[in-house]
Amino acid sequence: MKKIFAIASFTAVLLASCTPKATTATAPMASTSTAEQIAQGKTIFENSCTRCHKLPDPTAHTSVQWVGIMNSMAPKAKLTDEQHQWVYDYIVSVKK
Ligand code: HEC
Repeated sequence: MKKIFAIASFTAVLLASCTPKATTATAPMASTSTAEQIAQGKTIFENSCTRCHKLPDPTAHTSVQWVGIMNSMAPKAKLTDEQHQWVYDYIVSVKK
């Protein structure tokens, strides 16, 4: 039983380590932005993400869900890859 569990969790680790390659997400999970870029992300978020709907609540979704949301919303808001990253990092920074 113990062995089966060990194999199962090893498989889970393998699967987990493969997931980032499977998605084409441009936003890595770890924040690489400086405080300045995160501040810019906040400004972009407040200005660009209110055009079509009210400002979303960063705490309403997990950081993983936000990767997907940003992948569909960044093109709608016509963000560059950098702006996409900064807005994502701002959202994640609010959640902590
Ligand atoms: C061009 C219009 C437009 C812009 C700009 C826009 N959105 Fe959206 N957004 C939508 C529409 C339409 C929906 C609902 C349909 C959908 O989910 O695609 C939506 C839904 C959402 C949702 C709910 C998704 C869910 O799964 O519940 C979130 C969160 C969100 N947007 C965040 C953002 C953020 C963050 C930005 C700025 C980067 C942004 N949106 C910019 C049109 C827009």
